[in-house]
Amino acid sequence: MTDTLTTPLPDASPDDSRSVFYATTPIFYVNAAPHIGHAYTTILVDIVTRFHRLQGNDTFFLTGTDEHGEKVAKAAAAAGVTSQAYVDEVSGDFRRTWDELGIGYDEFIRTTEPRHQKVVQDVLQRVYDAGDIFYGEYSGLYCVGAERFVTEKELQDGRCPESEDPPEYRTEANYFFRMEKYRPWLREHIERNPDFIRPERYRNEVLAMLREPIGDLSISRPRARVPWGISLPWDEEHVTYVWFDALLNYWSALVSRGVEGRYWPAVEHFIAKDIVKPHGVFWPTMLKAAGLPVYQHLNVHGYWLMDARKMSKSFGNVVRPLDLQAKYGRDAFRYFLLRDMGFGLDANFSESAIAERINADLANDLGNLLNRTLGMLGRYRDGVVAPAGPSESADDEVRDAFLALPDRMVERFDALQFDRAIEDVMSAVRSANKYVAEQAPWLLAKDPVRAERLDRVLRTCLEALRCASVLFECVMPDKCRELRVQLGMGEGAVTLDDARTWDAIPAGTRAGTGDPLFPRIDLEALAEEIAGPQVAALEHKPEIAIDDFAKVELRVGTVTHAEAHPKADKLLVLTVSLGSETRTVVSGIRAHYQADELVGQRVVVVANLAPVKLRGVESQGMILAAEDDEGTLAIVGPLRDLADGSEVR
Ligand code: MSP
Repeated sequence: MTDTLTTPLPDASPDDSRSVFYATTPIFYVNAAPHIGHAYTTILVDIVTRFHRLQGNDTFFLTGTDEHGEKVAKAAAAAGVTSQAYVDEVSGDFRRTWDELGIGYDEFIRTTEPRHQKVVQDVLQRVYDAGDIFYGEYSGLYCVGAERFVTEKELQDGRCPESEDPPEYRTEANYFFRMEKYRPWLREHIERNPDFIRPERYRNEVLAMLREPIGDLSISRPRARVPWGISLPWDEEHVTYVWFDALLNYWSALVSRGVEGRYWPAVEHFIAKDIVKPHGVFWPTMLKAAGLPVYQHLNVHGYWLMDARKMSKSFGNVVRPLDLQAKYGRDAFRYFLLRDMGFGLDANFSESAIAERINADLANDLGNLLNRTLGMLGRYRDGVVAPAGPSESADDEVRDAFLALPDRMVERFDALQFDRAIEDVMSAVRSANKYVAEQAPWLLAKDPVRAERLDRVLRTCLEALRCASVLFECVMPDKCRELRVQLGMGEGAVTLDDARTWDAIPAGTRAGTGDPLFPRIDLEALAEEIAGPQVAALEHKPEIAIDDFAKVELRVGTVTHAEAHPKADKLLVLTVSLGSETRTVVSGIRAHYQADELVGQRVVVVANLAPVKLRGVESQGMILAAEDDEGTLAIVGPLRDLADGSEVR
């Protein structure tokens, strides 16, 4: 069963002068469930598209799933179901995840849909008729994980650079696309259009590939070996190679809705650096051969890393986005993803980083400005906004800082500096907080002669909050609407121009009481929750001298008693004998060990660790354990019987 999900688009009038913005995510393979890596690209495209909509541009946002190929067929076989049942299930999982994350895509395309398959066959036929596809034999190293032939040169320690799997040697009779023929054209196109692939490091990567022959691209697989694919229109015995099929989704989604004239080629592709070669080399040459104009920009971001490795199902280190949304809230999670990754660079993922970011920026800076402003408006003015009176230079400075932001934000977004765009707004919010401290409205409130001055200060803060809510609208749509409701402005839609005006809140508006938009995260409780070996595993350790190591007192002990922590389901409370003394150690190993199997277990204790209270129980040390990439955990102990309390040196 294949189904489609389309949302109606607003009509384009013939004299439409709006800028067009068509943005895409990769269509994700259905051999893995959605994780933070997939969510990042999708949330990013959602935010960028919303920002363009806020500017009044004509936008189209495409995402979807890539459902053909060996990898998917293998995953279905491993799950013991038909390929179709398998892809329906996982594609549905992606779509539900995006829906629950509030992603406002216009189209969700699946490569198993007839509307897509038809366009793929039409384009193939066109390229075949033009003489750019021929039949031949090919031998080489094939990586199933990356679904492509890899060259010797690309291998790292004998493994594919993308999937880190060892490739296999294959000889196959296939159809080939004359890709090499288009190499000089592509090279020149990239040289003439410096921002065609950006940031620059990825452009350079592609240019380096194009300096040497790229060869012709094998674009078919024998149906006998890979039945799960789209037939070549002129030869039923072969199916289309998965990348030739998948890349065309960006075009087929428009064609199937009859809007290709409206949105092509204003296309902005967003991908991570893993798939630069198919998007930077295969795709533009395919388009050229098919007689279609190439895309506008290929925008390439880095990886979210977990334990210093790319987050990926095959490395077993994935985090599910819905779990984080449930824990931290949708908008705060979006804010973190955009703020904590510099576009093009890798970023480290950890829950403590999310929590710290939420507390510092959202609970403190933005939350404080809102709570104190509405608190004072309630106390001093019964929550009613006064008319805008004359301003002083301190007020004008805050105003000017905010009114400069819309243009700056447009520039930042155009330059892919999303983290900096957010930081610009936050820095204006911080300056507004500083202004409050300097103007000390609580002192003005005591002096009836300064009533007008107090009104001005309160209004400046309200306007700053209103503008911040418009500027952050694309990042945190729900919270920004809530913020404006608290300001007494209702739920109406806003445009970026609303952040270009000042003193726009009508006099007489009745504001709310300033309920916290972003509750503070209890960092201590979070640290307890992720306490134990995981904490140590997350950090990359610096090189240390022997003296540093000598500061750690490690002793052999025996567990004499173990029980579940009464208040935390990940913790065990252990009693450990160190010979001359007994320690209580709270350890985050409950997911790996039963309390009773630990009694009698020999362990190594960090004996000079400062005591810490974990959910009300004092922990007087830590036991050592090791964890592998699969998440299997083992307590570390002495290999010979020796006395409790013996020092580990
Ligand atoms: N199906 C192909 C793409 C075809 S597009 C015509 C594919 N699928 S994928 O499921 O492997 O998705 C890869 C993409 O997922 C990356 O380019 C990126 O958008 C996202 N990410 C997956 N893991 C990621 C990280 N650890 N970090 C950041 N993004 C990551 O390739």
